[in-house]
Amino acid sequence: MADPTHFIAGLPKAELHIHIEGSLEPELMFALAERNGVSLPYVNVDALRQAYRFGNLQDFLDLYYQGMSVLLHEQDFYDLAMAYLRRAAAQNVRHAEIFFDPQGHTERGVAFKTVIDGLWRALKDAEREFGITVQLILCFLRHLDEASAQRTLDEALSWRDRFIGVGLDSSEKGHPPSKFQRVFARARELGLKAVAHAGEEGPPDYVREALDLLKVQRIDHGNRALEDAELTARLAREQVPLTVCPLSNLRLCVVSDMKQHPLRRMLQANLVVTLNSDDPAYFGGYVNENYQAVQQALDLTRDDIAILARNGFKAAFLDSAAKQRHLDALDAYLRT
Ligand code: ADE
Ligand code: ZN
Repeated sequence: MADPTHFIAGLPKAELHIHIEGSLEPELMFALAERNGVSLPYVNVDALRQAYRFGNLQDFLDLYYQGMSVLLHEQDFYDLAMAYLRRAAAQNVRHAEIFFDPQGHTERGVAFKTVIDGLWRALKDAEREFGITVQLILCFLRHLDEASAQRTLDEALSWRDRFIGVGLDSSEKGHPPSKFQRVFARARELGLKAVAHAGEEGPPDYVREALDLLKVQRIDHGNRALEDAELTARLAREQVPLTVCPLSNLRLCVVSDMKQHPLRRMLQANLVVTLNSDDPAYFGGYVNENYQAVQQALDLTRDDIAILARNGFKAAFLDSAAKQRHLDALDAYLRT
């Protein structure tokens, strides 16, 4: 590949694993803190960035929830989502499926309506201004109990047409998917799609539970599934997409070095791997930087990169006509 950075930048892409609260850049965090009279325990943006050194998922989550404290009003959620969507569109992301964590806000006294109205208005403006398509996935926080997830789903149903599915995130270890079986069953009965973080820090059995008990259509991360040959074979056979986030894995010490990232092994095992940014403001890059990081570390070819981009559209919750349009645009790009 003559110039991988250029090739990746121009590639039409989907992003399927991005937490909107994890796209809160330090500059916007400070601006919102000032606008809302919230005090942050850092003197400035540089000091905050210095704190972004994580030994594991929980270290990150502690700062992620603290960062959210500046989000209070509808306009804050609008500004947050609009900033992400502007950057995503500039990186040639043509379709984004965005996670949001309503309990991270309702638990602090911010109304669900405030969150969803701000995000929704940004989605519609971004679709019009940037030509990107966007869908929302409501995530349940797994460190909270299932009753709280059920109440969140109840409340969300007033805006049923604004989100396409449910997900499961936050502290994985000690919070197996089995804890959320009933709320996922109800969500599925309501026609919602289902995804779950599994196998990021948790064992392969959590991936199995997400498939068998939550009946998810995609696994978010899934790295540790590779420790189990039978499970890996099943993921390949059933073509269950994995939304992999390399820079996140590096920053959260899920991998010790990008050269050790399991992406190549995932591709060799015929898994439907997609590349995503997870929490780009905290992990040092948006989707293109994730593509670049693995391309370099694993010496991926142009064909490898094309497969990853193609998988992103295949794994999206889009109808087959929309998927085909994206795949055709990707093929046209690859012919240039
Ligand atoms: N919430 C935001 N980012 C997350 C991640 N990588 N894993 C689990 N929960 C999260
Ligand atoms: Zn995530």
